[in-house]
Amino acid sequence: MQINPHLFILPRTPGQIVWDYRNHKQFELNLDYSIRLAQLIDNPEVFDSANIIDTQFLNTGILTTSIEVPQDWGWDELSKIFHIGTKNIPCQYIPQNIHEWSRHYLDHCTEVLTCGAPDADLAHRAATGMIALPAPSGLPAESLGDALVRRKTCRSFTGEAVSLGDISNLLYLSLGYLKEREDDVDETIAEGLAARRSSPSGGGLNACEGFLLAQNVTGLEPGLYAYHPADHALSFINPLPGSPLGQLLCGQHFINNLPVGLFISARFDKLWWKYQHSRAYRMAYVEAGHISQTFQLVATALGLNTWLTGALTDDQVETLLGLEDSAEQPLFFVGCGQSDGQAMCKELKALLNEGPQQ
Ligand SMILES: Cc1cc2nc3c(=O)[nH]c(=O)nc-3n(C[C@H](O)[C@H](O)[C@H](O)COP(=O)(O)O)c2cc1C
Repeated sequence: MQINPHLFILPRTPGQIVWDYRNHKQFELNLDYSIRLAQLIDNPEVFDSANIIDTQFLNTGILTTSIEVPQDWGWDELSKIFHIGTKNIPCQYIPQNIHEWSRHYLDHCTEVLTCGAPDADLAHRAATGMIALPAPSGLPAESLGDALVRRKTCRSFTGEAVSLGDISNLLYLSLGYLKEREDDVDETIAEGLAARRSSPSGGGLNACEGFLLAQNVTGLEPGLYAYHPADHALSFINPLPGSPLGQLLCGQHFINNLPVGLFISARFDKLWWKYQHSRAYRMAYVEAGHISQTFQLVATALGLNTWLTGALTDDQVETLLGLEDSAEQPLFFVGCGQSDGQAMCKELKALLNEGPQQ
């Protein structure tokens, strides 16, 4: 007899929740059951087939007679619980053909739409007024192929200012709601969900948002700004922090003079609304990745170099963006500027040239 190796336990007064994350089952145990489980965890051999609690544990899979070889997992339990716990989500109903799928999908959308949608706009961020961006002028023709081969992560920037025109193109083409696609709607698109970006978006929800970090932009006060994709405008959020940018990015100080950055956040409330299972958390990062790559390709096409990171000093970033304890959370950072094209900063190169320390 052994304890199912894919369990975690949550204390929830007055009971405890035992979660079989591989089989997507949860059990709420009262004190008697909790005490008995603790005894069986201490020594599974005390299993007693005459004990009703023990047999219930066995029948529900909290206890198991099968011995499993533990799966190889290089990280700690947290990512394992999340990865396995969001795999093989049980479907109550699997459509058997395209007609059944269509009916099922439409019913799901109708059901979701009956619950009030989360706020589509970010009006609360515009308290200090909107700053309209210049109309985007577009990119040089046939620049995509070039941008794909020229995009490179650089870690040495000159700090030179970026123009507001470039900011406009960068934000519009990576996060803006495209005017060019406004007429591209069909009857399957629900009201309020018609906006389209250059990057695909899970469920068409546009759950990702962007915050511009302007350290050196011609015609824009240094600071942090929320981007409003429907209006192609910015609103001021905060001045730059007193500490250097590298502090916000887990000590990566080679980036301190980056003129422009974009914090990509995700509105979990939008994802919670349409997708109830934690698996949707995976999609938040996938969507941020699409936006980050688009931003980098646009920047490269504009003749700028790029850098990116997921290493955020989360608490500081959240405070700076006004997202503490919010259902919107920052996930990723991407930036651009003029660079000498080096993948490494000169300080690190100097150390490498010095050779190993005696
Ligand atoms: C998800 C992700 C996270 C990354 N995080 C960092 C980072 O924290 N710091 C950094 O300097 N580069 C980071 N990079 C950049 C990679 O080091 C870089 O893409 C890789 O060395 C390949 O070089 P290239 O981008 O020039 O092709 C990250 C890249 C990705 C895709």
